[in-house]
Amino acid sequence: MSFAQASPLAGLSLAEVAARVLTCTDCPLSRGRTHAVPGEGAENARVLFIGEGPGWHEDQTGRPFVGPAGKFLDELIASAGLKRPDVFITNVVKCRPPGNRDPLPDEIDACRKYLDRQLEIMKPDVVVTLGRHSMARFFPGETISRVHGTWRRQNGLVCFAMYHPAAALHQQSLKTTLQTDILKLPGLLQEVNRPAQAEQPAKQLNLF
Ligand code: URA
Ligand code: SF4
Repeated sequence: MSFAQASPLAGLSLAEVAARVLTCTDCPLSRGRTHAVPGEGAENARVLFIGEGPGWHEDQTGRPFVGPAGKFLDELIASAGLKRPDVFITNVVKCRPPGNRDPLPDEIDACRKYLDRQLEIMKPDVVVTLGRHSMARFFPGETISRVHGTWRRQNGLVCFAMYHPAAALHQQSLKTTLQTDILKLPGLLQEVNRPAQAEQPAKQLNLF
């Protein structure tokens, strides 16, 4: 299904989406939150990072990836030569699951419309999924151990899978994997932007 269709939030701006998230009560996660966390970054960001859900620090501040996992994510973003204005950061669910448990399928479904509209507005060059729950949406039926560090086109978006930075805080081998995988991002961004110019003459030749 295309993101362009069937969005109940069609026509809303990024700021209007964020405002809806802040008062949303569409799933039980609204009951335990201090602040909902819509996401933040530049509207014209080329790269959209999608985590799992707010943790304690994010719930306290209303901002995505500001705790220890966020510090590591900032390092990864910098090592790819990107700056904050190049990226937008959000999550699959916008409210903190109690005790940082995994988000439930019903909660992910209830929250899907917000991410759909964010994607539709921003049309990022690359979506980077962080962790299993974010990956599951763009790499259906896959496992993270198989697809991390690889990309595919899904629903008109180029999606690149990575482990979750929080998992790496307790496991040095995953930290190294994340540090290695993110280095593929600059090349992928170049590749995504190149085909429009490079492929056209070849396609025309094929006609004859
Ligand atoms: N982990 C996430 O998945 N998202 C955040 O915003 C912070 C930690
Ligand atoms: Fe609404 Fe999403 Fe928060 Fe659930 S997690 S209350 S759907 S914003």
